[in-house]
Amino acid sequence: MCGIIAYVGQKNVQPLLIEGLKRLEYRGYDSSGLAVIDARRQMHLRRAVGRISVLEDRLAEGSPLPEANIGLAHTRWATHGPPTEANAHPHVDAAGRIALVHNGIIENYVAIKQLLVEKGYTFKSQTDTEVLAQLIGDLCIQIKEQNHLPPGASILQRAVQAALNEVEGTYGIAVVSSDEPQTLVVARKGSPLIIGVGDDEYVVASDASAIIEHTTQVVHLNDHEMAVLRAGPGRETSFRTMTIGDITVSPVVQQLENKLEEYELGDYEHYMLKEIFEQPNALRNCLRGRAEQREGRIVLGGLADHARDLVKARRFILTGQGTAWHAALVGDYLMEDLAKVVTEATYASEFRYRNPIVEEGTVVVAISQSGETADTLAALREAKERGAMALGLINVVGSTIARETDAGIYLHAGPEIGVASTKAFTCQLAALTMLSVYVGRKKFMGQGQTQEVIDALCAVPDQLDVVLKTSEQVRDIAAKFVDRENWLFLGRGYHYPVALEGALKLKEISYIHAEGMPAAEIKHGPIALINDGMPVVFIATQGLQYDKVISNIEVVRARGGKIIAVATEGDTNIGRYSDDVIYIPHTIEPIQPLLSVVPLQLMAYHAAVLRGCNVDKPRNLAKSVTVE
Ligand code: F6R
Repeated sequence: MCGIIAYVGQKNVQPLLIEGLKRLEYRGYDSSGLAVIDARRQMHLRRAVGRISVLEDRLAEGSPLPEANIGLAHTRWATHGPPTEANAHPHVDAAGRIALVHNGIIENYVAIKQLLVEKGYTFKSQTDTEVLAQLIGDLCIQIKEQNHLPPGASILQRAVQAALNEVEGTYGIAVVSSDEPQTLVVARKGSPLIIGVGDDEYVVASDASAIIEHTTQVVHLNDHEMAVLRAGPGRETSFRTMTIGDITVSPVVQQLENKLEEYELGDYEHYMLKEIFEQPNALRNCLRGRAEQREGRIVLGGLADHARDLVKARRFILTGQGTAWHAALVGDYLMEDLAKVVTEATYASEFRYRNPIVEEGTVVVAISQSGETADTLAALREAKERGAMALGLINVVGSTIARETDAGIYLHAGPEIGVASTKAFTCQLAALTMLSVYVGRKKFMGQGQTQEVIDALCAVPDQLDVVLKTSEQVRDIAAKFVDRENWLFLGRGYHYPVALEGALKLKEISYIHAEGMPAAEIKHGPIALINDGMPVVFIATQGLQYDKVISNIEVVRARGGKIIAVATEGDTNIGRYSDDVIYIPHTIEPIQPLLSVVPLQLMAYHAAVLRGCNVDKPRNLAKSVTVE
């Protein structure tokens, strides 16, 4: 949600900022903008509504920006005020000397704005961010007038600190001032910010994708921390980190794990398709060194120090949002089925506000691709506050949730750029399976069953290669039904969450209305929706409830629904009940969701492409939702 990039160094900043914005565009794409300060201490601001390409066109049209070695840029997902040019970032102070980009929400902006209005300030936008820019500008004037600072101290730094002491809410910010044209000030609370440390240069961004082509050395700022970054001729390059309260913090420089190629589209038309096809390898990486087939055991190094507590745990709460919540639902089945421990899957957004009971022996598991989702983070903090042990199943290394949990399992899915989550989901399922076996084996699970699950899990990457071959067939099926505005996705047991996920994928990228639900539930009301030709996707793989699913299919068919079945290879029966069948390889029930979800991801992808939708950047959405 909103992407920030800022730079201070020796390079010409404009192309670098645009390139960075393109990498961050998946975080929000309502409007974008940049500000640079040239060698003559002049600030130049350009903003545009729409995609980064519109900003690029705007820059190409007017007189070219002069070379500059410091600047910042932003791509926006609107929270306060519609996506207009006036509301686009960067925002500037009254004198046009301060420029600021912001990711997050300033909750008390109305009160601060009122105080500034009383002092005579006027505002050009409806945003909370402009209030912060004006406040910093005002504080710069006050600090300068007081003239108390030692030589060499940064007025901008002091003003940012003073301003952040006043504001409530969340922020990842970058600020520059034309009075200090070699200084970049950045700060964070609740919104991610990473500092790339290069040779004589610093690149700050909301995520690593915009940094990696410049440097692999990074510092993850913690909440309530800030940095003052300086670079430029005649002044030594310097980098200081401190708390907002001005206590010096020693920065921990880390090496980025991912490689530049992992962020590139390569030969694929869309990131979503690339990420769907990356699933076999993503899962291999997720399982490597953890699911040990030969030894018949699960090794989870990240949990080793907590193994005893996990065995003694009386209850697991699995929490997340959207696709991650669907993974939590599958995890609920897995934990109860394999680990035989009471488990509950709950929306993070609901957990926090319902006054939840967290008894001794409760383990909360936060599931998140980005590790930044505000709802999930808030639920995690609430559970910890109430005494729960906190685990994370997170993809982005070093993300906020990952750092706030006691222990966890990184997904190792690689960067997920497409807004619709795909490979993170299957890796979440794999991690949950491993967690269930890990806990179960230490309790009641016999070696025979352990081996069976591990064998099945380890077979998944190769089986997925087979499932991916159905892509063309799935596209043909999607083409038959793509004009229908209402779809249903139905499954039982482990496939109920898969049905939810299939419906979510379809609606979020193709804008087709879709509902997912337990197949049995249809009789209790939703059957009224079925009309002639309505596409109804059944996950009808072989397992305990197969016959019941067939009965549910008959009920739908009798009312004119068109049946698209995801079924087990070799099932010669299912064709009689279905209009179209997509076959997936055989596996045991707990592992089936890892395979059955993939045709549904492909269905959503092809339907969206056939409808001419922007698959990687669906309307109104942002990849990482850092507001509650
Ligand atoms: C759907 C999707 C979202 C995310 C949700 C949580 O395709 O991507 O529903 O799953 O916003 O995001 P993370 O996993 O980053 O916490």
